[in-house]
Amino acid sequence: MILITVLASVLMSMKVIYERVLYPARLLSPWQCKPRPTNVERSRKTANVSHENNSTKLILFYNTWFGRKPWWGMDSNESFLAGCPSMKCRITYDVDDIGQSDAVIFHLGYKGDTPRWEEIQQIHKYRCSYQRIAILTQESLLHPDIADISFIPKGFFNWTLTFKRTSDFPLPYGHFFPLQLPAASTSNDTNYAEGKDKLVAWAVSNCGPQTRGIYVKELLKHIQVDVYGKCGSVYGQNNKCSRGSQECVELFKTYKFYLSFENAACTDYVTEKFWNTLDWRVVPVVLAKDIYIPIAPPGSFISVQDFPSVKALALYLQYLDKNDTAYNQYFQWRRKFGSQRKHMPQFACHICKALHEEHLQPKVYHELDSFWNRTSDCESHERSLRKLIMESKKGRWGYSTRFFD
Ligand SMILES: *[C@@H]1O[C@H](CO)[C@@H](O)[C@H](O)[C@H]1NC(C)=O
Ligand SMILES: *[C@@H]1O[C@H](CO)[C@@H](O)[C@H](O)[C@H]1NC(C)=O
Ligand SMILES: *[C@@H]1O[C@H](CO)[C@@H](O)[C@H](O)[C@H]1NC(C)=O
Ligand SMILES: *[C@@H]1O[C@H](CO)[C@@H](O)[C@H](O)[C@H]1NC(C)=O
Ligand SMILES: *[C@@H]1O[C@H](CO)[C@@H](O)[C@H](O)[C@H]1NC(C)=O
Ligand SMILES: *[C@@H]1O[C@H](CO)[C@@H](O)[C@H](O)[C@H]1NC(C)=O
Ligand SMILES: *[C@@H]1O[C@H](CO)[C@@H](O)[C@H](O)[C@H]1NC(C)=O
Ligand SMILES: *[C@@H]1O[C@H](CO)[C@@H](O)[C@H](O)[C@H]1NC(C)=O
Repeated sequence: MILITVLASVLMSMKVIYERVLYPARLLSPWQCKPRPTNVERSRKTANVSHENNSTKLILFYNTWFGRKPWWGMDSNESFLAGCPSMKCRITYDVDDIGQSDAVIFHLGYKGDTPRWEEIQQIHKYRCSYQRIAILTQESLLHPDIADISFIPKGFFNWTLTFKRTSDFPLPYGHFFPLQLPAASTSNDTNYAEGKDKLVAWAVSNCGPQTRGIYVKELLKHIQVDVYGKCGSVYGQNNKCSRGSQECVELFKTYKFYLSFENAACTDYVTEKFWNTLDWRVVPVVLAKDIYIPIAPPGSFISVQDFPSVKALALYLQYLDKNDTAYNQYFQWRRKFGSQRKHMPQFACHICKALHEEHLQPKVYHELDSFWNRTSDCESHERSLRKLIMESKKGRWGYSTRFFD
């Protein structure tokens, strides 16, 4: 036991040394902060809410985005400001511009992007009070590479750009919006069941011990679910279609339901797994209901939590398969709303505008956990889902099968 511990720590330190040699921390030179308006000027401006600084603001994308620089879709000033070309902001990827930058954005949630501890320490030490340091991520809180950023000192971030709606700049994966009249008033007799000869599809490539996998195993006892992707074999299936291909999309459109199960049930974490399904005109089946109510078009989805057991959901899907009228009710929202998946986070105009607002009070995340919190955002949802699954198993057998399978 002791030997293993010693061996593990030797290996760990070798890994750390290896990483340091391979990717040494950058040595930053301290930078000079620009003179700021005095307190008197500032309080005068606070009173005048409309006051905006008219100088050009610089935004630094400090690290890589999934290993790449420039970040996807933001390779030039023009593409970054495509939605608001007259705004006075410039972007840079040059770390040496940090002293001139009004905002410094870090992409986190992908291990290869995470900056060195030493670099973070230097930035925290040299930073100017008017510089906004921001975290940008679209990963769930339970993602291991997000757990990995706990080394970042408290109070490092001023702004958040995440999937959470309470972020300073929310980055949803999609949204819905009211349709303009009269488009909304034209009645539509589309039968959305037509041409769909299959029942339930699920594509999954992360086969970890997640709640969703446990649910599907139980669901498979009652109903056919065609599992696609790398994890198909885990469920004894061998369905073929290559990830993200048009062929897959065409195939999924022939199903009545798709399991839009996220890898973690966390507040506001609704990804392309949901928005794509709406685009395909397929009914998404989702995990924790409360997460979807504020985000999804009303009446657009089925939650596993609408049913007392896994079996009850299976029976309901079979019922909808036979009743086109009831199935089509999941598309009624389309008379009033449209939906759109967002491929690229759109925050440029908002962040550029905010950088010009002199009256904005300083903001500091002393504790990132009070903004997003594994316990309250994720574990509570996960717990109630697992309870549902356990109780389903009990119901079927009269006692828990936990010890048998
Ligand atoms: C607010 O600021 C603008 C521009 O500096 C100025 O023209 C305007 O008079 C100010 N308004 C008030 C109410 O102070
Ligand atoms: C505008 O912001 C710059 C720094 O970005 C600062 O030096 C300047 O004093 C500000 N101007 C006004 C009018 O507040
Ligand atoms: C913009 O800033 C310049 C100086 O940087 C100043 O001369 C000019 O009056 C400002 N314009 C407005 C509309 O505030
Ligand atoms: C944006 O413009 C500035 C100056 O106009 C330039 O230095 C910078 O390289 C440009 N950014 C990118 C990503 O091209
Ligand atoms: C089919 O669904 C509709 C709408 O929910 C319902 O009114 C009707 O009774 C159902 N038909 C059958 C045969 O269950
Ligand atoms: C009517 O159905 C078509 C085809 O599914 C769809 O593209 C369109 O958005 C629908 N219009 C309304 C108002 O629901
Ligand atoms: C940014 O956060 C730091 C704390 O690390 C704080 O001192 C500073 O006032 C904040 N700046 C703004 C503009 O919010
Ligand atoms: C996270 O949530 C738990 C449960 O609601 C709470 O006890 C804890 O204090 C929270 N942590 C922070 C840093 O807010």
